[in-house]
Amino acid sequence: MVNLKGRDFLKLLDFTSEEIEYLIDYAAELKAQKKAGQKHRIHEGKNVALIFEKTSTRTRCSFEVAASDLGMGSTYLAEGSQIGKKESIADTARVLSSMFDGIEYRGYGQEIVEELAKYSSVPVWNGLTNEFHPTQILADFLTIKEHFGYLKGINFVYMGDARYNMGNSLMVGCAKMGLNFTACAPKKYFPDEKLIAECEKIAAQTGSKLSFIENPMEAVKNANVIYTDVWVSMGEPIEVWQERIDDLAPYQVNKPLMDAADENCVFMHCLPAYHDHKTAVGKEMGEKFNREAMEVTDEVFESEKSIVFQEAENRMHTIKAVMAATL
Ligand code: CP
Ligand code: NVA
Repeated sequence: MVNLKGRDFLKLLDFTSEEIEYLIDYAAELKAQKKAGQKHRIHEGKNVALIFEKTSTRTRCSFEVAASDLGMGSTYLAEGSQIGKKESIADTARVLSSMFDGIEYRGYGQEIVEELAKYSSVPVWNGLTNEFHPTQILADFLTIKEHFGYLKGINFVYMGDARYNMGNSLMVGCAKMGLNFTACAPKKYFPDEKLIAECEKIAAQTGSKLSFIENPMEAVKNANVIYTDVWVSMGEPIEVWQERIDDLAPYQVNKPLMDAADENCVFMHCLPAYHDHKTAVGKEMGEKFNREAMEVTDEVFESEKSIVFQEAENRMHTIKAVMAATL
């Protein structure tokens, strides 16, 4: 019987396959309850602190809506708090855990969220660091399970910058849950060697196969899921854009690439995505770099194969499961 009460949720490496599966299935149950109009205010009267040192739409809204559905209050802390400026992470952790029942942190280095958890007496949840984005993977896997009915044996291909939070976390998640993971990028964007070695050990237990391929058409052969993320992540300097475009343009997810995959292959993206010029930022980027789209074309993003909005909705149900299970 899985019991996660009092646990932090900092990275998937800290959890067994059984525990991850439990969270995914619990999220599906909470989703069904919500759709049926059944309330689940099981943490009535509790309060959570939501620290965001980087911007967010999905993650912030997921934590706030999920907290409210569970009967809890939430306090958003961003610009204007003392965190990391006048006050250390260790002091912040002790102050917040004297007032709140759980703490979410989105920010920079993984060591910061680990430090927060070390000094906190209440569960700490990682809402994205440079290295990992574990709540996103729960949503992604719930979406794959809803779409295909299973996880084990799915051929999962990640295109683009595979050495950052999304590539790293998806590789760990696939290894833990028995999906076959392929990172497709120029070599310098492959995940860190040490993390690959750790995942290879996990994969040997779960039957997952990890591959690292530079040729896009070869990588997507038999793919069930093609996934990508932005080429430049939050917190990276704007100056790296041109180099990323030069390096990663051949790895854009477009129709010829989707057509080269399995005929039932779906497209996924954690979002936000640069797929057109409809946003002010998209327009500015498009004009600056003379490109219609970056990591995915509008044609693929808007196609029937794209399940990105189901995936985005599932952020809320899975984040709710994490809070409900650990509090
Ligand atoms: N996918 C994701 O984390 O989205 P936000 O940056 O909007 O939270
Ligand atoms: N790699 C992206 C993920 C956003 C959800 C970033 O860190 O900006």
